[in-house]
Amino acid sequence: MSDVTITISRNGSLKIEGGPTLLDADGNELKTREGKPFFLCRCGESTNKPFCDGTHNRIEFDGALAGDG
Ligand code: FES
Repeated sequence: MSDVTITISRNGSLKIEGGPTLLDADGNELKTREGKPFFLCRCGESTNKPFCDGTHNRIEFDGALAGDG
């Protein structure tokens, strides 16, 4: 079983824990804070993609999952 955990925040980012390597589309490693969780943008509006910069709050991102009423 993987030690990596991905948590989908309600109306926000994806929280990544467990120290996975993050690569861009060309296979280049993107730096993350070693040993710390990082947060990937799910709303598409971050100015620091692929990382979340909190913009989802300002735009009132609706991150309802399929099956969420
Ligand atoms: S999810 Fe936070 S800025 Fe997009």
